[in-house]
Amino acid sequence: MILPDATIGMLGGGQLGRMFITAAHNLGYRVVVLEPDPYSPAGLIADEHLVAAYDDHEAIIQLAQRCDVITTEFENIPAKVLKTLSASCPVHPKASVLEKTQDRNIEKAFIRSCGLLPVPYGSITSYSEIAPAVDKIKFPAIMKTARFGYDGKGQCQVNSLDEVKQAYRRFEQQHCVLEQMINLKCEISVVLARNEAGESCYFPVSENIHIDGILHQSLVPARVSDDIKQSVQVAAKRIADKLDYVGVLAVEFFITQEDGILVNEIAPRTHNSGHYTMDACITSQFEQQVRVLCGLPFGDTSLLSPVVMTNLLGDCWNLALDKPILNYSSILASSKSKLHLYAKRDARIGRKMGHFNTLAKTSQIAKEEADAIFMQINKTISIPSC
Ligand SMILES: Nc1ncnc2c1ncn2[C@@H]1O[C@H](COP(=O)(O)OP(=O)(O)O)[C@@H](O)[C@H]1O
Ligand SMILES: [Mg+2]
Repeated sequence: MILPDATIGMLGGGQLGRMFITAAHNLGYRVVVLEPDPYSPAGLIADEHLVAAYDDHEAIIQLAQRCDVITTEFENIPAKVLKTLSASCPVHPKASVLEKTQDRNIEKAFIRSCGLLPVPYGSITSYSEIAPAVDKIKFPAIMKTARFGYDGKGQCQVNSLDEVKQAYRRFEQQHCVLEQMINLKCEISVVLARNEAGESCYFPVSENIHIDGILHQSLVPARVSDDIKQSVQVAAKRIADKLDYVGVLAVEFFITQEDGILVNEIAPRTHNSGHYTMDACITSQFEQQVRVLCGLPFGDTSLLSPVVMTNLLGDCWNLALDKPILNYSSILASSKSKLHLYAKRDARIGRKMGHFNTLAKTSQIAKEEADAIFMQINKTISIPSC
């Protein structure tokens, strides 16, 4: 067991790292961040911030020397960095996990090896694989770069063989995956924690509404049957077990119109769809990650209240001003809502700047309240009805 007062290392400096640090501080731990951006959300509140590239040899040595355990908040840390660190310090997740989740083609093959269904797809790792990939799917489809995509980036919709060829050229012949576009009933996700003894603990399943490929809201309880909730939890546990995972892991699922369950993505870290736990669960996903890393018992994951988490993208900032600001008065005026901002210096379209959690008697009522607040913040954004 790693007791409070010990030091945890964090690779990556984004908002997930920032919220992890707050949870670690609440339990009395220190955190050292390795992140090249000197103004990163996590670096700003870390006990120590090593400002260097993730693969900077000196910085990696310093991190290993200073820390009792090391984790990541960002799945694109080079897997070899984790391998190097693990020679002198416990590291979770392991390099072998990142190797499986950093590349969409490897990830989908792994999902299949767990006996689960990925979205129908074809791999494109060379020009000659385009035609066989197209044969495996039905249009419309989405072409995605195999690596480094997030928040809908590195993706485009395609409707014919010619458009796939164009997209391949536009993505500069990087490895890609061609995915059939699914007519979704809804999207849900499971955030779970797994410890070194192989025990797992789930947070309640969340229902996720995306706009333009970016998460907009998470509703909990999700409006799906108990059977579906149980099936996705079993599927997520199978994935965590097969990875021999230690830490917090999220799995995104697509639910088809026929109630089929497809695994979309695996995130080897805390997840945006788990931010609701900060105000609606006894233990947040960030505290749970601290607990698992340090070998403490799991915290209780019971839901205290139905909740909706709403993301605040840079689009909600008044970008026409010299110093863009968010008009957050409607969030602060809502006695049932809690605002979380990530202290990012520049607001940009599509950039995650913060979120707010709204509690209510049901997730549907929480959504109505959150939608009204969101509309006040930015009247120009249309909200999907569901
Ligand atoms: N094959 C698909 N069919 C339908 N919607 C999709 C498909 N792939 C992606 N999307 C939509 O785009 C979102 C982001 O895609 P995802 O593959 O999860 O990439 P990211 O890494 O950017 O989260 C999904 O949550 C979903 O709303
Ligand atoms: Mg995703």
